[in-house]
Amino acid sequence: MLFRVARSREGGKITHYDLYKIQEKKGMTILDGLFQIQDRMDPSLAFRYSCRGAVCGSCAMLIDKEPRLACRTQILAVKDEALKLKPFPPLTDAPPGWDKKTEILIEPLPNLPILKDLVVDMTKFYKSLEDLKLWMEPLESKHPRLQSPDEREVIRRYVNCIMCAICYGSCPVNFENEEYVGPAALAKAFRFEQDSRTTDPERYGEAARKSNGAPLCDLVMNCVKACPKGVAPGGAIRKLKQ
Ligand code: SF4
Ligand code: FES
Repeated sequence: MLFRVARSREGGKITHYDLYKIQEKKGMTILDGLFQIQDRMDPSLAFRYSCRGAVCGSCAMLIDKEPRLACRTQILAVKDEALKLKPFPPLTDAPPGWDKKTEILIEPLPNLPILKDLVVDMTKFYKSLEDLKLWMEPLESKHPRLQSPDEREVIRRYVNCIMCAICYGSCPVNFENEEYVGPAALAKAFRFEQDSRTTDPERYGEAARKSNGAPLCDLVMNCVKACPKGVAPGGAIRKLKQ
């Protein structure tokens, strides 16, 4: 299989694409292919990873024009799986010469600045969580905050978020509007609003419904289709809007 990989040594924008021949085996992931390039062909290729098991959220990138985790996407399955996202320019503008049948196209996650090659600057993504103050205030009491199975079930979907920013990179509103806090932050706000242990639930909903939050969402639902952990941020945003 051939990998056509976006390169950007100085960051900022993609400057060119390099083509690499990968010796693939059954079960090999896109991340394994990138290791092969780095080990045997081009040590200068930059990409981010940590856990290799869809837990840390570090390896999100655009694979054949779909935002995915590189460690969870098998090379031999890429051409068979389609997320069917609503298109916007980063998902449709293909480089000249890309042969869709024989090459896997690998690019950095959209909607965040490129630092180098496949590594994006996540500052904006994390800042949206910080701006909405998405954490729980500590209680003065020393008692643990217990939760019943039913109470836990209410937030189960949302606590699975691994902060990979795939929803952010798949969202046409984030592409068009720099101000929009994005799907993950809003899903997290909804989670804290619903969490039985929260002492001040109103503050999360209020923060999420500010002008740069839920009102900007067009309910496109790319985030629901692309999220690798089934968080379905779009469903939470719909409830916040209601
Ligand atoms: S909601 Fe899903 S896609 Fe978005 S950051 Fe969390 S795990 Fe990633
Ligand atoms: S390397 Fe951790 S999620 Fe892919």
